[in-house]
Amino acid sequence: AKNIQIAIDGPAGAGKSTIAKIVAEKLGYTYIDTGAMYRAVTYKALCTGIQLEDAQALEKMLRATEIRLQPSQEGQLVFVDGENVSAPIRSNEVTANVSQVAAYANIREILVAMQQQLAEQGGVVMDGRDIGTHVLPNAELKIFMSASVEERARRRQLDNEKRGIPSSIESLIEEIALRDKKDSEREASPLIQAEDAMYLDTTQLSIDAAAEAILKLAKEKI
Ligand code: C5P
Repeated sequence: AKNIQIAIDGPAGAGKSTIAKIVAEKLGYTYIDTGAMYRAVTYKALCTGIQLEDAQALEKMLRATEIRLQPSQEGQLVFVDGENVSAPIRSNEVTANVSQVAAYANIREILVAMQQQLAEQGGVVMDGRDIGTHVLPNAELKIFMSASVEERARRRQLDNEKRGIPSSIESLIEEIALRDKKDSEREASPLIQAEDAMYLDTTQLSIDAAAEAILKLAKEKI
């Protein structure tokens, strides 16, 4: 058996992390959530009062920051300078600002190098926006996962409910559409389907069915 790299990209709320976690668990692979790294940088900048418009200041901050991903029962924990920030990096404030930080090429360069190192040995399921196109261009399996914006907002609302955060569908649709637009239109590694990625629309697909489809493709490569 080979330890392959599986890249899962797509817009916000398509189900990437939920499905990637299941696939990783079934294969005994490590799940790596790259969005959490951009969120961690954004979170620290917001906490320390660094201007999000200042890419140089952000880079200086990041070079002096320790970001650690730790596989866990729930998928992955994120530590910034030793502090577990897994919950606060999901706040609305971080979500609303992360695309601005993720648009800076100098920030991406540093995080992409870390991601490539984490995936070096294979045996990983990595989710993000540019994994198939930039981070792991030689990944054996690339999936581009999407769903209608209404369905993605509905899932995000259920998610929020579970965490006790009330939210309206209308504002979620707006937030998701705006973040997708920023991620797709930026110059540095925009969100785009890799030529050799397989497109998976999860609008009508259950979590288990989507995970099964990916596992089947993975087993053909392993
Ligand atoms: O996956 P998640 O929604 O947590 O990602 C948060 C944000 O991080 C995205 O909206 C995007 O701006 C950025 N991101 C990115 N490249 C990745 C992963 C995430 O630009 N590989």
